[in-house]
Amino acid sequence: MIIRRLTVEDLPRLRQFWRENWGDEFVVAHGMIYRPDTLDGFIAFDGDEWVGEITHAFSGNDCEIVSLDSLREGQGIGTKLINAVVEEARKQNCRRVFLITTNDNLNALGFYQKRGFELVKIYRGAVNESRKIKQSIPLIGENNIPLRDEIELEMMLK
Ligand SMILES: CC(C)(COP(=O)(O)OP(=O)(O)OC[C@H]1O[C@@H](n2cnc3c(N)ncnc32)[C@H](O)[C@@H]1OP(=O)(O)O)[C@@H](O)C(=O)NCCC(=O)NCCS
Repeated sequence: MIIRRLTVEDLPRLRQFWRENWGDEFVVAHGMIYRPDTLDGFIAFDGDEWVGEITHAFSGNDCEIVSLDSLREGQGIGTKLINAVVEEARKQNCRRVFLITTNDNLNALGFYQKRGFELVKIYRGAVNESRKIKQSIPLIGENNIPLRDEIELEMMLK
């Protein structure tokens, strides 16, 4: 498996990937709309096949992970993608890496905490607001849990 930077040639595939996995070509978090062409990121490949993606955005001294997907779970792909972004954030002298996940995503909450991220805030009802912008967000999320809140996690770098 190799990991390389997201390039402009990857954008059509990334849009399709988001459509298939996240219901649309854009992601909404904390009231912001994120599109692939405004983001940096990394793609994990096995030969020609995509086996994972991560995207991130810099804002001031912060680096935000916007999306993370592994297509072969439990083989270290998610960890390698996170590490690639953290390394990049350190190079850019970021103060912290943060991300938003949702209250239903128990797997992601565990995954990130085991990799050094800490829970910092709950934005109650934020997903209900996002759903007004992105109607494809389901009412019931992972683990049959009502999908309602955003949870912010962060890793301090300094
Ligand atoms: C969260 C997610 C990205 C994790 O990706 P992943 O590729 O499964 O991550 P890893 O393989 O690095 O780690 C997963 C587990 O597999 C284990 N693992 C990694 N390599 C392994 C190997 N070679 N053999 C056995 N187990 C292994 C890890 O130890 C880890 O377990 P732990 O969390 O208890 O330590 C993935 O589950 C996913 O895409 N979920 C859906 C999308 C999503 O929720 N994204 C986040 C939204 S914010």
